[in-house]
Formats: sequence, C-alpha cells, structure tokens
Amino acid sequence: MAGIGAAGVLSGAALIPIASAASTGQKKTGFAPDVEIALSARPAEVGILPGSPTRSWVYRGRVVRGAGSSLVSVPNSYLGPTIHVKTGQKVRIRFNNHIPDESIVHWHGLHVPAEMDGHPRYVIPQGKSYMYEFEVRNRAGTYWYHPHPHGRTAPQVYGGMAGLFLVSDDEEAAAGLPSGAFDIPLVIQDRSFDADNQLVYLNGQMMGGMMGRMGGFLGDRILVNGQPRFTLPVATRPYRLRLLNGSNSRIYKVAWQDGRPLVIIGTDGGLLEKPVERSYVMLAPAERLELWADFSRDSVDSQVGLVSLPFDAGMMGGGMMGRGRMMGGGNALPNGAGFTICRMHIQRRERAKFSLPARLSTISRYRPQAAVNAGRPRSFSLLMRHMAWTINGRTFQMEAVAADERVRLGTMELWEFTNPGGGMGMMGGMGMPHPMHLHGKQFQVLSRSGVRHAGYVDEGWKDTVLVMPGERVRLLVRFDDYPGLFLYHCHNLEHEDLGMMRNYYVQS
Ligand code: C2O
Ligand code: CU
Ligand code: CU
Repeated sequence: MAGIGAAGVLSGAALIPIASAASTGQKKTGFAPDVEIALSARPAEVGILPGSPTRSWVYRGRVVRGAGSSLVSVPNSYLGPTIHVKTGQKVRIRFNNHIPDESIVHWHGLHVPAEMDGHPRYVIPQGKSYMYEFEVRNRAGTYWYHPHPHGRTAPQVYGGMAGLFLVSDDEEAAAGLPSGAFDIPLVIQDRSFDADNQLVYLNGQMMGGMMGRMGGFLGDRILVNGQPRFTLPVATRPYRLRLLNGSNSRIYKVAWQDGRPLVIIGTDGGLLEKPVERSYVMLAPAERLELWADFSRDSVDSQVGLVSLPFDAGMMGGGMMGRGRMMGGGNALPNGAGFTICRMHIQRRERAKFSLPARLSTISRYRPQAAVNAGRPRSFSLLMRHMAWTINGRTFQMEAVAADERVRLGTMELWEFTNPGGGMGMMGGMGMPHPMHLHGKQFQVLSRSGVRHAGYVDEGWKDTVLVMPGERVRLLVRFDDYPGLFLYHCHNLEHEDLGMMRNYYVQS
C-alpha cells in the first residue's frame, strides 16, 4: 500500500498520524520471540467430498523457533494450523502471501498493537510478507485468525483461510478441565459445492450476487473442521468442546438433539466464572462457545447430535433474501433452518474421575458508573441506507474516523448497538441480525433490550455480540495499552465487505 507512508488521516478537522507498515511491523526490532512461526497463504487442492479435490486457499505454517507443539495442523482440512501459545509469550509470525490476491492476517480477539492487528490498510500483494510481533496479553481462550483485506475478507475466508489461536494460562490449568485428546475444537462453517466439488460463492446473476451479499452468503452444507457429516468418536467421559462459528453469515441455534442442557464453560474471551446451563445458545459468525460435554451416562454405540434448531432470522436474514430463491441465489438452507451440525459417537467405555468444576475463573465485572460516558452511551445504529448496511449511516473508509469514533486511551466506555429492524410490522421486513465485533478488545455485555430469542451467554468476556432485529445491546469496554486505529464491524462477512465496518481511534 504505497501512499500510506508518513501520511495522516483526515478526520473532521484534525489530522491523526498513522504509523506505516514500513515503520512499525516490518523493521528489525529488539523483539526476542519465545515462539516464531512462518505462516503462508497459498492455493491448494483439498479433499473434502468424495471425488474431485476442492480448489481452496489455505494457511499453512511451520515453527521456526520455540516448542514444536506451538503449531498443530488440522488433518484432512483446508483449515489453517492451530496456534497454541501461553499468556505472556512473545510471538513472531511472518506471514507470506502466496495467493493471487492481496491479503493481511487479523488475530481475532487478541489484544495487540494497532499495526499488529491486521487492519486492511496493511494489506500485502502476492509474493510479499508481513511481520507480526506481539506479546500475548489475553487470558486463556479460544481465539482465531483470518484474512482482513477490505472487500475481500468474505471470499478469502470462504475459500478456506481461517485457523484457531488457542491461548492457555495458569488460571485455566488450575480449573482442571479435560485436556489433550479430550479438549476438542469444532469449527463450524457452511459451504456450497458444484457438481465437480468446487466451492460456489455468490457467482450467480448480478442480482443474485448483490442480493446474496446484502443478505449474506449461506451454504447448503455444514462442515465441521473442514469435513462434511462430521462425527466425533468419544468415550463415556467429559470433554471440553470449543465451538467457533467460522461461517460467513450463518447463525446457529446450538443445542443437543436429545434436549439435554448445554453446559457452557466459556465464550469469546475464555472461561466463565462458573458453568451456566442453557437449553440452546445462539452462535453468530465469529463467536465462540466452550462446552462441558459429559457422555458418561451415554451407552456405548449410541450417538448424540449437536444440532441447530429452527429460528426466525427476520425476513432478510432468513427469508426472501437469505433464501435467495426469488433473487436467483437458489439457497436451499436458509438462515434459521434446522439441521444437524455434527454427531458424537460414543465408542468406548472409560471411567474418568472428572467432575465439572464449580469455579472456572475470576472475572472482575466492570462497574457501569466507572464508564467515562456513564448514562450517555456512545450509540451505533445498524441501518439500511441506500441499499447498503451502515453503522450510524456510514460505511467503511480506509483511514477515516468520525468525531463519535474517537476514544481516549486508558478509559472505559459504555457502547450501545441498536438494530432497529424487526418487530412484527411492515418495517420489520428489512431487519437482519448483525453480529457486531470490536477489534483489539474483550468487552462485557451490560444489558440487552428487545430480546425475543434468549439463548445468549453474556456472563463472560466477549469480542463479538449478536444484535438481532429489534434488539439493543449495551456493553462496557476499556481502551488500554494500545493507541491507534482499530476496526469495529458487523461480522456477517458479506456485510463487512460491503462496508458495514468503521474505524475507531484510540487517542493517547
Ligand atoms: Cu474476525 Cu475484523 O474480524
Ligand atoms: Cu477481530
Ligand atoms: Cu450485518
């Protein structure tokens, strides 16, 4: 990106200086990494369905320095290798871009300096590399990485580019949860394939493509860890299951098929203080959910399905546009349809003396009165304007920050997202769910109003929050450590690519 260099960004009347890639991420520093990884993105053919392999874009990597266990590849999958690090470790990752498109990697959920966050202004073309160096300051949790070039995130993620970034720490170890072979990530994604097993992405008619993007892409096959009809062989004992919704737009209403309650132990930003139970949980794109799944009362050879229950995603979210039939998209599995995500096959008996910990971690709750704008939330309305999804009527501009998008370093704020769509009336027809995500921060959900669905787990740390039509969500977020330009956006990736994304600026 020539031209960013020493430039600033024009914002209202003020010029905000922005560090360039050349002067930050890319120069030699005194940084001494504990773990160094070479991560590349490249085209690959991956066997997903029986028959022809599927042309994909994948992340592949190798450990250059540090424990070999820092990188674990996902067998038979387009998914990128899982990165395993500990809180406090210094990580260096050299990203080499070998796909015929510009790209940049974003570490979703990680608290890192602005120039390490994968902002689209740092994209690099094919053949170039970008050096990331940061200290892991997050608590233990299930984070992930994916591309973030503006306007190209959705097709690149869809093509296969995504991986998990798992952080562990002492507090997590002390909780005594199932580990190793009993700690299993489940990355849930939807895809569509043509007769030759190639990925199909919004390549229909003009209108089909446009309407598909407005509604968000929905595939008609559910893949888990990159595989169709995923079945996990398990023993009669407890497991820790880490769910990531890595889909572009699909929301899952996660439940056990036989109606047993979900026991939730963690969310986006790691473990809850104590386990909670729900009959189902809404899992929107980019959200994570950690489950305690105990199969000790199941009989050997039985199966338990993890399902997505039917729900009302709003007219655009799951109906006319999401389904896309009228518009030529031809989607057979609308948002809100019910289906099986994957199955647990209880294969063998094992007597593991493991009980669900009563206490998992410590979370100090933010006090709303401590927010610098207590009582005056910084509010963002999610609106359709001129056939585009906007935030407060605005769409993405690479370096622009509006007056109401500047915050002060070291402060805690009250933010509010309002999705005015929905309701039962005529206007409700334009409503769509928007999973709103803040870069670089974990926040706490303070309150919700207008909730018709329930199924939320707001007890823990979050970086992405689902705002259904008619809902308003208030959250508390602290802007510590790192000044600079960060993103907030809808994590429906088609919405993001269409510009439902903005910068916020942390002023020191
Ligand atoms: Cu996973 Cu900008 O986000
Ligand atoms: Cu992110
Ligand atoms: Cu959206």
